[in-house]
Amino acid sequence: MADFYALTVKSIKKLTPSSVAVTLSIPKELIQTFTFTAGQYITLKKELKGKELRRAYSISSSPKAADITIGIKKVDRGGFSDYANTKLQVGDVLDVMPPEGRFVFKPSSQEQNIAAFAAGSGITPIMSIAKTVLDANPKNRFVLVYGNKSYEETMFYTDLVKLELDYTNRFFVYFTNSQTREEKALFGRIDTATVNYALKNKHKDLAFNDYYLCGPEKMINLVTDTLLDNDIPKDKIHFELFTTTEIKDEMPVAVDGQTNLTVVLDDEEFQLTMDKSKLVLDAVLEENIDAPYSCQGGVCSSCIARVKEGNAEMVKNQILTDGEIADGFILTCQAHPTTPTLKVDYDDV
Ligand code: FES
Repeated sequence: MADFYALTVKSIKKLTPSSVAVTLSIPKELIQTFTFTAGQYITLKKELKGKELRRAYSISSSPKAADITIGIKKVDRGGFSDYANTKLQVGDVLDVMPPEGRFVFKPSSQEQNIAAFAAGSGITPIMSIAKTVLDANPKNRFVLVYGNKSYEETMFYTDLVKLELDYTNRFFVYFTNSQTREEKALFGRIDTATVNYALKNKHKDLAFNDYYLCGPEKMINLVTDTLLDNDIPKDKIHFELFTTTEIKDEMPVAVDGQTNLTVVLDDEEFQLTMDKSKLVLDAVLEENIDAPYSCQGGVCSSCIARVKEGNAEMVKNQILTDGEIADGFILTCQAHPTTPTLKVDYDDV
């Protein structure tokens, strides 16, 4: 079962005309529950216009901070991000799931150089990772390439400039703006040339331990391809998608007919019949079964379950490894049954 905890909004800071940083107080008794690793996210639950919404937001604060700060960019009208940008107030209470996510940086006592590429709100987990890297060892260096439309649209701009001042010769940021030509910024989107400029020109003498990518799929694919072309091993490239293409229309296989679905959750078994054309998570939620989920877009990994009988195919998967899929894991928000019966277990993950 997904556990939510009531947390109070401590402060709200406007970052750009369409984004805010929201800081939540963590009471003493929940410090352990809300301990996190840099790069993770929390899920917020809110009822708006009679409909329960869940949204995942990456944490921008350092794991050492007393509170948790998230960045919320307005991406919808009438949805949660709109609400957070226009109506949310200090003192409001939000239902919050403890931190989770696999896009993480674990500090070590060894000297480490990290490169990151972010676009738009993809900067949010990178903020937490950068602070952690810089804090972990006085010799660590962090190079960031950050793409936006303009400085005005750049989330955490002043915090990034401050990091540059606080960590001279250790933190380097290259802003790249696609709509306005501005001082000290590259012009255009993050592309092969931008990646090579940062890594092979400005920092050609630095050996990087790991690479962190966060933003839209196109940017992630392009940067990944460029890094691979530069002989960077795949296991050093970590990424998190911040937007994903619409998946509901893309069916992977013939999905006619129905499936008898068994769901194991919190040691209980539930039975239901669902159309194969439906996504497993959607069918489970329609039955009011309290399965864990967050983004419903295949990017967060909250909804993982293990297939115990039958088969299901995922429309999209950018999270699970081939080994995990072979072990029977699926993202239920992305999976259609392909057999007349299917049993999924949310407990065995
Ligand atoms: S709910 Fe986020 S991946 Fe399925």
